[in-house]
Amino acid sequence: MTSDSAHPALRPRRLRSGGAIRELVAETRLHAKNLVLPVFVKEDLREPRPIPAMPGVVQHGLVSLRKAVREAADAGVGGIMLFAVPSRKDAVGSEATSPDGILQRAIHEAVDEAGDALVVMSDLCLDEFTDHGHCGLLDAGGRVDNDATLERYADMAVAQARAGVHTVGPSGMMDGQVAAIRTALDGAGFADVSILAYTAKYASAFYGPFRDAVECELRGDRKTYQMDPANAAEALRELRLDLAEGADMVMVKPAMGYLDVLRTVADRCDLPVAAYQVSGELAMVEAAAARGWIDRDRAIRETLTSIRRAGATIILTYWAVEVATAGLNS
Ligand code: PBG
Repeated sequence: MTSDSAHPALRPRRLRSGGAIRELVAETRLHAKNLVLPVFVKEDLREPRPIPAMPGVVQHGLVSLRKAVREAADAGVGGIMLFAVPSRKDAVGSEATSPDGILQRAIHEAVDEAGDALVVMSDLCLDEFTDHGHCGLLDAGGRVDNDATLERYADMAVAQARAGVHTVGPSGMMDGQVAAIRTALDGAGFADVSILAYTAKYASAFYGPFRDAVECELRGDRKTYQMDPANAAEALRELRLDLAEGADMVMVKPAMGYLDVLRTVADRCDLPVAAYQVSGELAMVEAAAARGWIDRDRAIRETLTSIRRAGATIILTYWAVEVATAGLNS
């Protein structure tokens, strides 16, 4: 091949020269069916209530929940992840296992509305239900008691399965949580309920707006159970454990700051890999866009494409319905 410095023979720009050719060679595409919409449901709420730090996201009551499920299904979204805000919180998170607790009722309504049109998932964690805001039970010294918490998670899994959930999402980062939940589900006759394991969930500042959404007033921090943002090899250890314990799908969270972890996890595992684009990731884009500092729609699609390119098959995103409706790959 001949070339001189003024006339290169090899020109990658040829494949960028028009819209059609760019589409033809695109390596990464988003699909609505791979998106999961996180949904907040608050007990005794009559009208949807906006969440100030999460523009465009609301808390639902049970009535508007049904509409939201229908809208997501009609948009072709693949699943929803339910989070509940109970009226009553206590030290052990009693409402998390009560058969008529708000999460169980929300699951029941969502499954009834969705049929087989989308996958109904539920958060399996205690922080929405405890008055101290931690993801587990506290011992006498105020530390999160791993093994006592596992018993609560096992009971939560069965309560959610009885309400009809398709997939549970344990997000508390307790050791042994996937095994405890799998054993409980199988023992209660729910072998078909799958587990989306929060495999590498980091102690992140980017969950800030979410705590408003679930009205969680945390005492202290979550650094004794969620992972240190400094660590990547540790994610592989967590992955090995979740695979051995019976996870059906694995997740990395948050997404954008952890694309390296996502890529490594995706390379090392043959289960479906998910990533959670968390509340702070939404807030950053919305806040910058509101000031006219970035192009909102392009930025949203660029973040989602990057997460997919890094290895996620499934993406949890608050923009799921919007992008599924308005176009995913523009
Ligand atoms: C814990 C949980 C959190 C999120 C999902 N599940 C908060 C936390 O760990 O502090 C955060 C999600 C988001 O920020 O969008 N149940």
